[in-house]
Amino acid sequence: MAATPPARRVSAPDVRARKGTGEPLVMVTAYDAPSARTVDAAGADMILVGDSVAMVVLGHEDTLSVTTEDMAHHVAAVARTRPRALVVGDLPWLSYHVGRDETVRNAAALVRAGAGAVKLEGGRKRLDAVAAILDAEIPVMGHIGLTPQSVHALGGFKVQGKQLDAARALVDDAVALAEAGCFAIVLEAVPDGVARMVTETVPVPTIGIGAGRHCDGQVLVWHDLLGFTGADRRLPKFVRKYADLELAAVEALAAFVDDVRGGRFPSSAETYHMTDQMAEALGLDAGPVEAPVRRERAESPQ
Ligand code: KIV
Repeated sequence: MAATPPARRVSAPDVRARKGTGEPLVMVTAYDAPSARTVDAAGADMILVGDSVAMVVLGHEDTLSVTTEDMAHHVAAVARTRPRALVVGDLPWLSYHVGRDETVRNAAALVRAGAGAVKLEGGRKRLDAVAAILDAEIPVMGHIGLTPQSVHALGGFKVQGKQLDAARALVDDAVALAEAGCFAIVLEAVPDGVARMVTETVPVPTIGIGAGRHCDGQVLVWHDLLGFTGADRRLPKFVRKYADLELAAVEALAAFVDDVRGGRFPSSAETYHMTDQMAEALGLDAGPVEAPVRRERAESPQ
């Protein structure tokens, strides 16, 4: 059953204010109008238009191929549904690494497309980018731990913060991002103890993905959560699949294929008919639409 949606559009300050309330924040990714509608109707607080679009929608092996223009295209599709949830636009790789002006221009492109906030990956290294974007009055969400845009530098999609130094570095990164003004921080693929330490240390909400239960909120990818990932893709252990929509879609499509081939689609009710007079004037037989259906049924053993 769909949750009751909040009365008005969620803002970044609303999300920030949820820290310490004990009411977990929920974020789900979406990349187009249908996925955005489902996430908003379910009552999530935030829709992340993630650069995971590269993998789950566009079929790439990692997130590195999408550009700011690609992201703006998807943000705009989500924003056109006018969701109550806060739309967070993910800044793609290289959109905030080159210089202050370019960073602000790219963040602004996502806001102009309809985002109410942007997300970027990295800790203390990215404080200049965070400051520049905040200076342009755009709320920023941080993202540390496994940062998929660093896949080559990290040597793969691996759990982070498993060693003492790395765990402490994550806490320092989170503190620095919060002090810089991030309104929330995503913690991806870190041990639950590290996520707990970060969550208890920073004054802004932490949103976990593969970070255990001691976070202020959780995020999952729409396609993972709904089982739309392809039969051969191994999902990380933190994904809980709530539906098998890909299977349901294949079953529905196979039924359509079968109905077309069996002459059962379209039916008369699914057809625009001309008047008998017009059919006669054109020399057409009346009512040929159901004929193949009758023939198929007559031939069928049932
Ligand atoms: O792009 C994305 O979907 C993300 C989430 C995994 C947090 O960054």
